[in-house]
Order: sequence, then C-alpha cells, then structure tokens
Amino acid sequence: MAVSLREITDANAEAVAALSVSEAQQRFVSSVTESLEEAEEHPQDKPWFRAVYADERPVGFVMLSWDVEPRPPEIHGPWFLWKLLIDERHQGHGYGRDAVRLVADLVRDQGGRELLTSHVVGDGGPAGFYARLGFEPTGETDPDGEVILRLAL
Ligand SMILES: CC(C)(COP(=O)(O)OP(=O)(O)OC[C@H]1O[C@@H](n2cnc3c(N)ncnc32)[C@H](O)[C@@H]1OP(=O)(O)O)[C@@H](O)C(=O)NCCC(=O)NCCS
Repeated sequence: MAVSLREITDANAEAVAALSVSEAQQRFVSSVTESLEEAEEHPQDKPWFRAVYADERPVGFVMLSWDVEPRPPEIHGPWFLWKLLIDERHQGHGYGRDAVRLVADLVRDQGGRELLTSHVVGDGGPAGFYARLGFEPTGETDPDGEVILRLAL
C-alpha cells in the first residue's frame, strides 16, 4: 500500500473525522474533530494538518506545528509533531511509520534539522513506536508532564 498525506477537503472531511483510535488509546491523542478545533483556536502554534491515506483509503490524521517560533516550555519547535493517529482498524500495517517518514521528508525539505514530538506516558502508549522510528527523549517534559522526544533529520 502506498501511504500519502492529503489535504482535508469537503470531499473527505466526513471520512477523516470518522477515524478513531481504541477506547484505551483515547487518553494518548485527541480525536480528529477536537484536533481541528485546537488548530482553529491556536493559529499562533502554526497548525498544519493532513489526512493519512493508504492507497485511496483514509486511515489516519497528522498535525504539526509548522515552522513555529519555539517558546518553551509551552511551544516546542520549529517543527513539532503535534497529533498523530492511525485508525484502530488500520493499525499495525506500517502506516504510522510511513506517515512520520513523509512528514520528516517534508520538514527536511524545508531545511528542518530535527522533528520534535511529545507523548503522554502510560501502558499502551506510543513510546515504543517512537523509539522504533529513532526518536530519543530530550530529557525535557512539557507543562502537562508529556515527555519531549527528538528525531534528528
Ligand atoms: C502509535 C500509532 C500512531 C502507531 O501507528 P501504526 O500504524 O499502528 O504503527 P506502525 O504499524 O507503523 O508501527 C511501526 C513500528 O512500531 C511498532 N509499534 C507500533 N505501535 C507501538 C506501540 N504502541 N508500542 C510499541 N511499538 C509499537 C510496530 O510494532 C512497528 O514495529 P516494527 O518496526 O518492528 O515493525 C497508532 O497506534 C495510534 O494511532 N495510536 C493511538 C494514538 C497515539 O498514541 N498517537 C500518538 C500520540 S502522540
């Protein structure tokens, strides 16, 4: 399956909003609709988002802070992976990894040298996923206690 990142338009908005993670995973990421509301409410965080497609099927959602002015501890950047979810039914097929690789390629093309992210710590969380992709803890945590990770590009 070829993974791509596509804009959210009137044609696919409903299908993308219907993507969801398992109940147990909901504490690790907000829904697509909540994420889009957050984007709307925080334009200063420079939100950039796309649907993740496997061939012609929407399977996930990704949102970044795109070339944002870092203001730690609240805003990390300039390139910060803010949201990532792969729908429960489509997890475990490499789509999450491919989506992060595509994002990393875009950021590298913009001259970015590192991609930052953060995650809630807990069983069933994405720590192992990010470690597999080469992210390393920076040693910092954000004001909500999320661990900050860095991927060198
Ligand atoms: C985390 C998430 C994005 C992973 O997406 P995915 O498409 O299922 O992951 P992939 O199939 O691309 O997995 C890539 C590798 O990571 C591993 N992996 C995936 N999820 C993992 C987890 N939770 N813990 C440990 N390893 C994990 C896979 O086994 C695979 O390993 P491999 O290299 O040995 O094959 C997805 O499970 C998800 O949306 N989870 C809920 C929301 C979430 O936690 N998002 C991150 C918020 S910061």
